[in-house]
Amino acid sequence: MSLNVLKIAALAGDGIGPEVMREAVKVLHAVEKKHAITFQITEAPVGWAGIDAAGKALPDETLTLCRGSEAILFGSVGLPERDPTIPKEERPERAALLRLRKEFGLFANLRPVRLYQTLAHTCPLQPERQGDGIDLLVVRELTGGMYFGQPKKTEDVEIDGVKFRRAIDTMVYTTPEIERIAHVAFQSAQSRRKKVTSIDKANVLENGVLWREVVTKVGAQYPDVVLEHMFVDNGAMQLMLRPTQFDVMLCENMFGDILSDEAAALAGSLGMLPSASLGARSGERTFGFYEPAGGTAPDIAGKNLANPIAQILSTALMLRYTFGLNDAAMAIENAVGQAIDSGLRTGDIYTAKDPAARRIGTAEMGSAIAAAI
Ligand code: IPM
Ligand code: MG
Repeated sequence: MSLNVLKIAALAGDGIGPEVMREAVKVLHAVEKKHAITFQITEAPVGWAGIDAAGKALPDETLTLCRGSEAILFGSVGLPERDPTIPKEERPERAALLRLRKEFGLFANLRPVRLYQTLAHTCPLQPERQGDGIDLLVVRELTGGMYFGQPKKTEDVEIDGVKFRRAIDTMVYTTPEIERIAHVAFQSAQSRRKKVTSIDKANVLENGVLWREVVTKVGAQYPDVVLEHMFVDNGAMQLMLRPTQFDVMLCENMFGDILSDEAAALAGSLGMLPSASLGARSGERTFGFYEPAGGTAPDIAGKNLANPIAQILSTALMLRYTFGLNDAAMAIENAVGQAIDSGLRTGDIYTAKDPAARRIGTAEMGSAIAAAI
């Protein structure tokens, strides 16, 4: 396959998805001009947009497009208020998002959390707890654990003559599943500050004991990286007390879901945080799925208020991890830094206290970043 045609499926989804995706595409076009690359960007509906267009959260045509692409640039899906009569298995969260993760074997979810110095005021922690700046990476296992373990069901039971319902979720991890995500964490740490904090609940869960054992074994192959183990409850607390102690946090699926939202709060706004979900490497590329950490934010959708930076930084991760275009990825990240440093702010990161700050909309932020490229 020619290395020059870079096929991207752009699935904007619901809520603010379409408007932040528009800005990410704008930025990609700026990258094309600057770096003489051609992207083939094809849009398709997903989520409620998929249900409206084709009766399904993940329409067949959208799935086919994804299969023929090398990366999925994803907006966000799910509108909790919409149509409660649609069964949970068919709702966008499960039928589109979890399905795509499983379908493409996207086992490694990378969520970098970085607090820009000029946005220190958006961090809920007091300045002395921010140290020299917060910069950590949550590596979350994404296709195992309680999200997918079987049995998973709700049933009617009768025990000792008493009738009730019960729900069962099952947490399962195999050693290969733990090994492969541990390798991702250690390799990520090698190009950062060389520390992995592995999160588990080894004092209570069988899964935690195995997790710790396997991560320790994998860690022995990376003598240059310091490994530390931490119980998840303590990890949640440490994030609030001393977040600067963390470099890479390695988590199973659900702990990673929870701790990544907590860590995200440290960066002030979810609107700033990108993420990458990666599968195994095949040939010279790694299939990847790139989405902002925040959700659909229906309350501000369609009002030119959303912060497009998370979506734009997600495209930078796409260029880096799937296409190996590190220079272009850095160009985007630097352009975002420039826009922030010059005082441009969407509402979520704006404060009137900062005399240099200028409040702008979604489209203006995208244009400023594209122009900086
Ligand atoms: C996330 C989200 C999803 C998850 C939901 C929407 C299914 O919270 O990506 O963190 O729990 O994985
Ligand atoms: Mg989550």
